[in-house]
Amino acid sequence: MKKNIIHRLNKLSLFAAGTLLLAACNQTGGEANASGADTAAGSESSDIVQASFNEDGSVNIPTGYRQWVFMGAPLTPNALNGGEAPFPEFHNVYIEPSAFAAFEATGEFPEGTQIVKELTTVRSNNNAENGSSQEVSGVGYFQGEFAGLELTVKDNDRFKDEPGGWAYFSFGHKSPPYEKTATAFPAESCNACHEASAETDFVFTQFYPVLRAAKK
Ligand code: HEC
Repeated sequence: MKKNIIHRLNKLSLFAAGTLLLAACNQTGGEANASGADTAAGSESSDIVQASFNEDGSVNIPTGYRQWVFMGAPLTPNALNGGEAPFPEFHNVYIEPSAFAAFEATGEFPEGTQIVKELTTVRSNNNAENGSSQEVSGVGYFQGEFAGLELTVKDNDRFKDEPGGWAYFSFGHKSPPYEKTATAFPAESCNACHEASAETDFVFTQFYPVLRAAKK
């Protein structure tokens, strides 16, 4: 019994030391941030993980995006779109977690929001005429291989001229490795359709139950 209490006390002081250490780390982190040239101004966006841009204005391909929050997987199979869908075929959509947390808290996409859409082919196996597969779970559409990556970033400072501050990028409609950098499309190529048809601030929340459930 006594041993147990001592053990607990030890744990407590370890915890306290850990908290102090964390606080110290946070402080240096804050200082590094304040002197970082490329950090977005304003307290609101300082908590949001920002995309990484180059001097020529291009954006670097995000890392770790398959561990971001999964929003959904719309499917426009080539076989149902005259053999060539504009955005073939599965679209796996992910949002960067700090932006998701802010969306959950406020119902709005914060400055700095990053959303990716990774395309995959439809698996071809015992294909019927509509491009479907016969698998153990039934006849349907199953994901094949990675086939492209797109990104949108909301940043009203950086993209003053883009409607809503949203810029759109593609790292290639092809199997990996994708391009390492991308430059923003003109608004009429991407942004215009999002502005006209997306339900919430240029994002197609009508197709993402994960976002609808998160929204307050
Ligand atoms: C004709 C309309 C249209 C055009 C043009 C368009 N999109 Fe989209 N986009 C959509 C739809 C619809 C969705 C919803 C998910 C899906 O079906 O893929 C979407 C979703 C996205 C998403 C996920 C976030 C969101 O807003 O839902 C990204 C990223 C994206 N598109 C990038 C692009 C890029 C890059 C271009 C230009 C090359 C582009 N889009 C052009 C209709 C369009």
